[in-house]
Amino acid sequence: MKVTVNDFLKKKNEGRKITMLTAYDYPTAKMVDEAGLDAILVGDSLGMVVQGLENTLPVTMDEMIYHTKMVSRGAARAMVIGDMPYMSYQASIEEAVRNAGRFIKEAGAQAIKLEGGREVADRVEAMTKAEIPVMAHIGLTPQAVHRMGGYKVQGKTEEAAKRLVEDAKIMQESGAFSLILEAIPSELAKQITAELAIPTIGIGAGVFCDGQVLVIHDVLGLFERFTPKFVKKYANLKDSAMKAIGEYRKEVEDGSFPSKEHSF
Ligand code: KIV
Repeated sequence: MKVTVNDFLKKKNEGRKITMLTAYDYPTAKMVDEAGLDAILVGDSLGMVVQGLENTLPVTMDEMIYHTKMVSRGAARAMVIGDMPYMSYQASIEEAVRNAGRFIKEAGAQAIKLEGGREVADRVEAMTKAEIPVMAHIGLTPQAVHRMGGYKVQGKTEEAAKRLVEDAKIMQESGAFSLILEAIPSELAKQITAELAIPTIGIGAGVFCDGQVLVIHDVLGLFERFTPKFVKKYANLKDSAMKAIGEYRKEVEDGSFPSKEHSF
């Protein structure tokens, strides 16, 4: 049975952690699903780890739909969450709702995620009214990279922390079913998690969040351009892949592949 927004809430209330990773295609989604994670985020991080872009800003709505369709086919149980790319929800409420609806109607997602606090409250409210479950995302919001002057830890001053607590509450009041907290101090994430009824999912926000999310290419050691402090590499698949590709090349060059076993 599919994981639902009710399961998210139940886990928070029972003190059980919510598990989430990104995925961008069918085979990866299938692995994450079979490993028993609660949710798969089709993040616009795919711009950096799949498309090789400098940041997430050029990713388009059509590209997100394309990837979310593949992920949905591989996710039998995990909730699939489509990430609203830059300029798919900023211009108007109507455009925001239509684009969010595409994730549900065309791509088979069960929820969407969008970045921002009070400035997107009207979008979150309108999407919720249109029966689209919304995961909000505050703290370090990569689509605001130019305004923030880089990918920096947020909420470090008393004033910034207070604003983030307010934003978290506004997101809850606007109808968000959960909230991503990215790159903020652990104690601030602890306070927000305690003050909200909806679950928080941390990425670089410490252990007190109700759940955790990471980018799968970071977890598996497939993205080496930079590794944030909050990433733990659980494997180094680049090394394994390079070994396999190198062996294939050698065997083709020396004629040992294909052998009789692999020929008709
Ligand atoms: O785009 C993404 O993958 C994200 C997560 C890192 C939270 O927003």
